Amino acid sequence: MAEPDRTERPRGRSLKPLQTLIPFIRPYRGTLVAALTALLIASGAMLALPIALRYLIDNGFIAQDVGTVNRYFGWFLAAALVFSVFAALRYYLVTWLGERVVADLRNAVYQRVIGMDPAFFEVTRTGEVLSRLTTDTTLVQSISGVGLSIALRSSLNLTGGLLLLVLTSPQLAAYTLVGIPAVILPVILVGRRIRKLSRQSQDRIADTSGLAGETLNAMQTVQAFTLEKLQARRYAAAVNASFITAVRRIKMNALLTVIATSLVFASITFILWMGSRAVLAGTMTGGQLGQFLMYAMMVGSSAAALSSLWGEIQRAAGAMERLSELLNAKPAICAPVDAEHLPAKVSGRIRFEHLAFRYASRPDSLALDDFNLEIRPGETVAIVGPSGAGKSTSFQLLLRFYEAQSGRILIDDNEISRLDPLDLRKQIGLVPQETVLFGESALENIRYGRPEASVEEVKQAALLAAADEFITGLPDGYDTFLGERGTRLSGGQRQRIAIARAILKDPPILLLDEATSSLDAESERLVQAALEGLMKDRTTLVIAHRLATVKKVDRIVVMNSGRIEAVGSHEELIQSNPLYARLAELQFGG
Ligand SMILES: Nc1ncnc2c1ncn2[C@@H]1O[C@H](COP(=O)(O)OP(=O)(O)OP(=O)(O)O)[C@@H](O)[C@H]1O
Ligand SMILES: [Mg+2]
Repeated sequence: MAEPDRTERPRGRSLKPLQTLIPFIRPYRGTLVAALTALLIASGAMLALPIALRYLIDNGFIAQDVGTVNRYFGWFLAAALVFSVFAALRYYLVTWLGERVVADLRNAVYQRVIGMDPAFFEVTRTGEVLSRLTTDTTLVQSISGVGLSIALRSSLNLTGGLLLLVLTSPQLAAYTLVGIPAVILPVILVGRRIRKLSRQSQDRIADTSGLAGETLNAMQTVQAFTLEKLQARRYAAAVNASFITAVRRIKMNALLTVIATSLVFASITFILWMGSRAVLAGTMTGGQLGQFLMYAMMVGSSAAALSSLWGEIQRAAGAMERLSELLNAKPAICAPVDAEHLPAKVSGRIRFEHLAFRYASRPDSLALDDFNLEIRPGETVAIVGPSGAGKSTSFQLLLRFYEAQSGRILIDDNEISRLDPLDLRKQIGLVPQETVLFGESALENIRYGRPEASVEEVKQAALLAAADEFITGLPDGYDTFLGERGTRLSGGQRQRIAIARAILKDPPILLLDEATSSLDAESERLVQAALEGLMKDRTTLVIAHRLATVKKVDRIVVMNSGRIEAVGSHEELIQSNPLYARLAELQFGG
């Protein structure tokens, strides 16, 4: 579980994070101006109501004149109608703006996150990112939409109301002005505390999502080890921690409401009392008092609205802070400014030169140590070695998920660190050890190899991958939904989908991490046949766990502790390399 100090990162003044929103609002300047205009008109109409009321009382009632009463009621009604139309318009525009801004914000955060390198995901739990995308953006949405509307309306009504208070009765207004700092000061102090608590509370929610995500992704393991109770307890503890921080925040919010509301109403009562005495003394008319009171209520309710909104704004600032961390995350691997370009299809020559690499989280052990290897275009090379030897790491570096500390990798004489990673990865097909499928149809899953491929091309690829037969046997054929992460297919079937995907991509370089889980003889034969079709005519690097593979390849590279121990054919290595001989006996059955 996360330590509380994670929330205590150094930060600037309280509302700074909200500035990150400005570029998201800028494209909708027009809407904002329209909303502000509607707001001005609505507030103007609102502020005119008490004036109509005053003349109604003073000129209509007191003078006992029906015509005047009718006329002022007419004005009153007109002002009310103008108010309601423009208030609705303002509400619509401002809410639209909030929804739009948050939709853009979500997209921006998501785009940023999916561009991050694997090192980022080693330290960030996916559930945490999801939580930020959903709950944090929702908080921002509530203030950038309705919140913004309330803020603008209330501050306008507050200033307008105050001004008109002064004009109506300077003496009474003076009393009001004394009350305002008394209301605002505690609001600001408590608000600061709320922002901090809100951030903590969002962090705790993200913890729960992270925990749940982890467990739900490993449901079978959890159940097989009967860890349900344990996991439920871990989750409950996380939920409870988030509940406790939420309650602390809510208490502060409640405190804020009590302070603000009671101060506001105490002031109004006091003013009304003073005003009533002025009317009795004859220094003020009843209409003036009525008008003053309406303004005072307006000012009071605006101040109350603003103060409770202040808490919300602080929460949103906390959420925005977390979102900007994601928005400002910089992938460690990106295209150099003057990136070199590869031809549409490289010939497929690969050279690893004196590569040394250690994972950032494992700084004192070399995952690759002076790794040298040249692979000719079209050649198939198998990599074998004990677990943890660095086989998968060599793939990771070739795909440029990590940066080597020294040495370089060349593809057709182009140093890969000089290329745009996107450009590089277009040339490479990967069939990973664990096939990843998406919650879509079989067709779409294969089409991930080349999203613009036609249905015919997909079927052709499936046929070559020996996947067509089982796919057509599925309930809806190619349109069958494969379940989240492809849980509705067997291991061998998943692999063949992955192979079909690679065939469809048709890359000049193929990286193949053979699955270690043993398949039954029939699937094994099918997968092997599919792979042979795939490896033909392209440079292939295969991490081999099968005898059938190593016997067919041109060269076998034996790796141990990040170093290349020996290179040769199966027969040669059996004779010359004891490690290989042992591996062959254990892994391939002699
Ligand atoms: N993301 C990572 N962060 C830190 N260390 C890692 C990471 N991935 C792998 N390692 C370490 O690097 C070393 C090489 O790992 P690698 O995955 O390349 O082994 P491998 O040869 O593919 O093994 P296997 O046959 O079990 O797949 C291991 O000691 C492993 O613990
Ligand atoms: Mg591996």
